[in-house]
Amino acid sequence: MRNGDRDISRLVEPDRVHRLCYTDPDIFEQEMERIHESLWVYVGHKSQVKEPGDYYTAQIGRQPMIMVRGKDGEVRVFYNRCPHRGAMLCSDRSGNAGHRFRCSYHAWMYNFDGTVASIPATNGYDGTRMKLAEGDAGLKPAARVDNYRGFYFASLSPDGPDLETFLGGATLTFDQLVDRAPDGDVEVVGDCFRMIQKSNWKIFLENQLDVSHPSATHESTGVAAGQVEREMEKRDGRKAPLAYSFISAFKTPIEDWVKFDTVGHPYGHCFLAGYMGLRPQDPDTVEYETLLKQAHGEEKGEAILSTDLHHVLVYPSLSVQPPLQQLRAIRPLGVDRTLTEIWHFRLKGAPEAIYRRALDYYYLVNSPSTMVNADDLHNFWKCHQGLSTEGGDWVSLHRNYGSDSERDGVLYSAPGTMSEMPLRHMMQAWAGYMGAGDESVGNGSGGG
Ligand code: FES
Ligand SMILES: [Fe+2]
Repeated sequence: MRNGDRDISRLVEPDRVHRLCYTDPDIFEQEMERIHESLWVYVGHKSQVKEPGDYYTAQIGRQPMIMVRGKDGEVRVFYNRCPHRGAMLCSDRSGNAGHRFRCSYHAWMYNFDGTVASIPATNGYDGTRMKLAEGDAGLKPAARVDNYRGFYFASLSPDGPDLETFLGGATLTFDQLVDRAPDGDVEVVGDCFRMIQKSNWKIFLENQLDVSHPSATHESTGVAAGQVEREMEKRDGRKAPLAYSFISAFKTPIEDWVKFDTVGHPYGHCFLAGYMGLRPQDPDTVEYETLLKQAHGEEKGEAILSTDLHHVLVYPSLSVQPPLQQLRAIRPLGVDRTLTEIWHFRLKGAPEAIYRRALDYYYLVNSPSTMVNADDLHNFWKCHQGLSTEGGDWVSLHRNYGSDSERDGVLYSAPGTMSEMPLRHMMQAWAGYMGAGDESVGNGSGGG
């Protein structure tokens, strides 16, 4: 496929990709159309719109959308545009619209199923070709909306696999999030942090499973946290609170990161196995595990708790850490601007201390104010700057190329390596979506 005078198929090779994939504005427009405005993209969680009239806005590709709960309890997703003269319908990010949406410009009103509720002085449309009775002038819905266990996605294209087929193995991340709750449900807590990264969206996605970066990028942060941890232990004579290990874990030397396997699923989704000891035998964890096993039974409870999963990328819009109830949604704003929404969840029925653990991780590792995030953001910006120069055309994805394996369309990094398989896998998926590769993308691409 050609993009202007660019041949996309020449920009993605099995072990390296061209810098223009990250920096070319025309390619960005094309990937918005073919990826973010076509695939299933995360909109939000059901708990963001609990009551009828609750709405939440979200960007899908270049399209501002509204997720709203109707009086019938149904969650729907519409373009955030009044059909009259095009004004944005909801200018607040979230809220409750009362009995119906009311456009602030000329007071056209819309039901939460998108139909027109009323138009002032309607008789002005008598005899025109706008046929209100035939459904003209309603809100335009997303082509497809579906949810998996309360996590809502929309696709702006009528074509493509259904949500569950698209998610495939990545459904495990939502199962893990929900099944870890003794009461079998989760809810978002408060609002999200929103952060704009001055870099292309793919740079963030690629970083999430890049196990060769933490010991370098986060070295100073991890070492400093380790020192504090040791000093506290010396002073108080007991182990520092678990939250300190969330940061000191980053001082793990590079040779130890080879333990964490990565997996590439069809459609570009990727997993990183667990790396934090989140099953300490402190009284809070013991109480929580007992509750969970009472809820699910010993065998299923143990299976849920021992699932070896730390991080999941749901291509192209989500980075999820189920054991710590964290979720980051990726909203590209421009070729060099990416918004992330940073959410965390409460496990219903779990002790408060387990929630505090998620909150600690949220603040200490994923929030805009943590040093960990600052370390990463600085590198993302530097990558985008460097890739915008003529100092070289190719981005290297060679690490352990040729040694990954494939079973039933799923890719596995070679054990004991820091294989860049997830990065190769996502870029092969990207090329397929962009029309320059196998359309079944990700179905086994990017391996050895
Ligand atoms: S633009 Fe919305 S009512 Fe006129
Ligand atoms: Fe990082």
